[in-house]
Amino acid sequence: MSTSRSLNAFPVVSIATEKTLKLSNFTAIAIPVKSGDLAEPAELQISKALHKIAKDLNLSFEDIFKNWPDATGKAGELFEYPVSIGELKRIYFVGIGSASSDDLRKSAIALARKVKSSGSRVLDGLVTNSNTATNHAIALILASYIWNEKTAPKSGKKPQPASFAILGNFSDEIDFANILAKGVWQTRDLIHTPANVKNPLWMANQAKNLVNEISNAALSIKVKSGSELKEFGGLLAVGNSSPKPGPRLIEVAYTPRGSANWPHVVIVGKGITFDTGGVSLKRPYEFMVGMKSDMSGAAAALATVLNIAHLGKSAPKVRVTALLMCAENSLSATSQRPSDVIKHYGGTTVEVINTDAEGRLVLADGLAYADAKLDPDYLIDIATLTGAATLGLGRTHAAMYTRDDRLAAQIYKAGEEIGERVWRMPLIDDYKVALASEVADFNHTAEKPDFNGGSVTAALFLEHFAGERNWVHLDIAGPARSESDSGENPKGGTGYGVRVLTNWLTTL
Ligand code: BES
Ligand code: ZN
Ligand code: ZN
Repeated sequence: MSTSRSLNAFPVVSIATEKTLKLSNFTAIAIPVKSGDLAEPAELQISKALHKIAKDLNLSFEDIFKNWPDATGKAGELFEYPVSIGELKRIYFVGIGSASSDDLRKSAIALARKVKSSGSRVLDGLVTNSNTATNHAIALILASYIWNEKTAPKSGKKPQPASFAILGNFSDEIDFANILAKGVWQTRDLIHTPANVKNPLWMANQAKNLVNEISNAALSIKVKSGSELKEFGGLLAVGNSSPKPGPRLIEVAYTPRGSANWPHVVIVGKGITFDTGGVSLKRPYEFMVGMKSDMSGAAAALATVLNIAHLGKSAPKVRVTALLMCAENSLSATSQRPSDVIKHYGGTTVEVINTDAEGRLVLADGLAYADAKLDPDYLIDIATLTGAATLGLGRTHAAMYTRDDRLAAQIYKAGEEIGERVWRMPLIDDYKVALASEVADFNHTAEKPDFNGGSVTAALFLEHFAGERNWVHLDIAGPARSESDSGENPKGGTGYGVRVLTNWLTTL
């Protein structure tokens, strides 16, 4: 079966220092324009190196800016100035607004979208300080992503990735950005792969390939299937609807030598390779079309543990285990039925109400298994769990649930820093009564009485399976997908979660 590969190769982002700089290596130069600069074009606040380059090229900013009387320098504004000096063909003047991290991200998106797949070699002079370099470089890479040939620019030729050399001494920041962005890129590849290719076995094989590519002895992978899953009643109930090849529990562990006493973080990801809703068929049917992305949480968990291994010597002192709960939620003669009673890992019984609420069933097994067997210091789950989370927060923020104020603050901060935002939601104890069942320990959709708040009640259900652990639930149904090709996201899977989780792990 084919492996997942995005159309466009990963663009190279490197560093150019004043000493190593060779102008003849580049086909384009990007020069920053701050808000307010344009009133006094000669006073552009750009680095000495760029001033020297402009001088060597005989560029007069004053003359150039006469062509753009409406310019404001707002972040993401872009003016293209054609030149023909050896291989150098374009100067891009790019608005960087107030030069904040967010503005540098916007400027990177504008630049990357402009040169996407053009094969350009860009000297990027937009970054003015190290605090903004990481997010700028990540955005350059993520905005360059293309999955499908049909969405590639129609130049007639196979798209060639652009490369970017960021001017300045930011090598640590750029190394980190490359690792993070590569993780997001791989996550997007997995999400974009169609569900007729991407079954749970395929996911396991992809995970094995990615683990092998890193060749770090601290990384290991185990895949459970068939009778090895007999205690995982939730994963089986969902995944047996598609018995060929059936569900998989993929366990990827990063356990470096000497890490026995380091904090252990277990990340459980929802890996539904397609969600039809099962017997409670998803309606309206248009909602089903995007459901190949219902494994986004598992893909993000995988990329996060791989990222930490990739960091090598600069990895934080943590142990990380990703549990990818992979199953297809299909409609077939072996589908579970509304009213079935299932037994989760650890023995809790659950009355299934609506088979479209399958995510919490596979996660419950993962959480209970982690609690019983892996002794996590932090237990995180990440899942495209409820439409309700999207109704509440839209697509920019994940809904975060935890009882731990300190952890909530840490994850919030990690997200704000790295451009993936979370918003803490309440675990409302008064709603717990809705999880009661006459035939099992719980009903799984909090049906009686119906408090609404579907994202909250899903979180309350999951919490039971996390035992007494420091647990965080991230409902990423909103930010995991983008409805359009915009900002740093392609239409489809965004790869949400990789950045915030990796960044948070580096603070432990
Ligand atoms: N995968 C869906 C949630 C989802 C919806 C993800 C939209 C991304 C975009 C999940 O399995 C589901 O169907 N949840 C139901 C739960 C309900 C039946 C209690 C939902 O949110 O409607
Ligand atoms: Zn569902
Ligand atoms: Zn689902």
